[in-house]
Amino acid sequence: MRNDDIVVIQPAKNIAGSLRVPGDKSISHRYAMLAGIANGRSRFTNFSSGEDCASTLACMRALGAKVQSHEGVVEIEGAGKSLRAPDRPLDCGNSGSTMRMLAGILSGQDFRSEMMGDASLSRRPMRRVIEPLTAMGATIESSDGKPPLKITGSRLHAIDYKLPVASAQVKSAVLLAGLYADGETAVEEPMRTRDHTEIAMSAFGVNVTRLRNRITLRGGQELTGIDAEVPGDLSSAAFFLCAAALFRESNLVIDGLGMNPTRAVLLDVLTALGARARVIRLEEKHGELVGMVTVEPGELKGTEIIGAQTAAVIDEIPVLAAIAPYTRDGIVIRDAQELRVKESDRLAAVAENLRAMGAKVTEHEDGLSIPGGQQLTGADIQSHDDHRIAMAFAVAGLRAKGETRIHGADCAKISFPEYFHLLQQLTAE
Ligand code: S3P
Repeated sequence: MRNDDIVVIQPAKNIAGSLRVPGDKSISHRYAMLAGIANGRSRFTNFSSGEDCASTLACMRALGAKVQSHEGVVEIEGAGKSLRAPDRPLDCGNSGSTMRMLAGILSGQDFRSEMMGDASLSRRPMRRVIEPLTAMGATIESSDGKPPLKITGSRLHAIDYKLPVASAQVKSAVLLAGLYADGETAVEEPMRTRDHTEIAMSAFGVNVTRLRNRITLRGGQELTGIDAEVPGDLSSAAFFLCAAALFRESNLVIDGLGMNPTRAVLLDVLTALGARARVIRLEEKHGELVGMVTVEPGELKGTEIIGAQTAAVIDEIPVLAAIAPYTRDGIVIRDAQELRVKESDRLAAVAENLRAMGAKVTEHEDGLSIPGGQQLTGADIQSHDDHRIAMAFAVAGLRAKGETRIHGADCAKISFPEYFHLLQQLTAE
């Protein structure tokens, strides 16, 4: 039930049915940017319906690419690598991916540009891209390391960069700038992060190589437009997969889902917890794996999420935390300090909302310890204007006693506008 910006979640009996989820947000951003700097035309189906990717499309349009978008089909006539100076600041909305990755492309242009964002994005750290891009020759002004960013592009030189934080966005910014650099750019990551940029660049004809955690590419390469279907977004599917795991009678099938190994680690976590997740009909599309996933519940035990696994499920942690109280032994999450600088401080927001529902939870600087065997009670939940918090607590509400009211639920549109509607369709009350 919807009422302005409040969504009310009633306790459910199970999650049953089959669905497809909109295209992957990370891949959609990359396809849009690469198509914008490619030669020729690209066409994408199942493009992300989220507002974040619409922000990227609007930026690429302002930079000279011809962009048409209608009901998940996006056509882009690339401007080639030399873009047009925009006549006003580029609005990245709520999207950290847009600002950080586009910074790499703007660093290689022969004009000055400005990128700004909403209140949440204006609080997010940008030094992580400013440092390597400045080392490559760009001049970037910021507000003490935060947006807005004013970028004076330049002829860039290649760098050999060791990422201080495991961030796919920063890796991507350096690789995108590397396309404009003299020489060979190398990026080394402390642990493996999502590799959609490397895969998408190859699909657009760029020669990019990986050797263990080191990715290299030669500057000056040109890109050619592609036609592609965007795989379903595993981070959006995560809410349904976790919800299905909560009920003995659930039976969920999700088809066309992105199964890139750097993203599908959630299935390992669900399996470790005791749910039965299966992947069938795995195929490759433009280098990305796509499959059909089924989830059947088992008795949820407990698990610990640490180190590289934390980095791999970083966007799924809010929903894993939301189901943790319903497990037998609870979930411990560590090494997740990056969650403090996402669209909200997600560790604080999760802890606050779990407590509002009556759960015991210990908050650490880098994680959460959530004991199992807890029955939650429906409560007033604050989304903090963070899409993943709003969607995660709808899942917690499905097993709670009484109704749960998600305040500020509208922000789900950032990544998954259809979410509450689909959730209602799949839930039996
Ligand atoms: C993303 C990388 C991750 C992730 C974000 C999307 C990407 O951020 O949390 O939702 O598309 O590259 P970081 O690069 O900050 O880890």
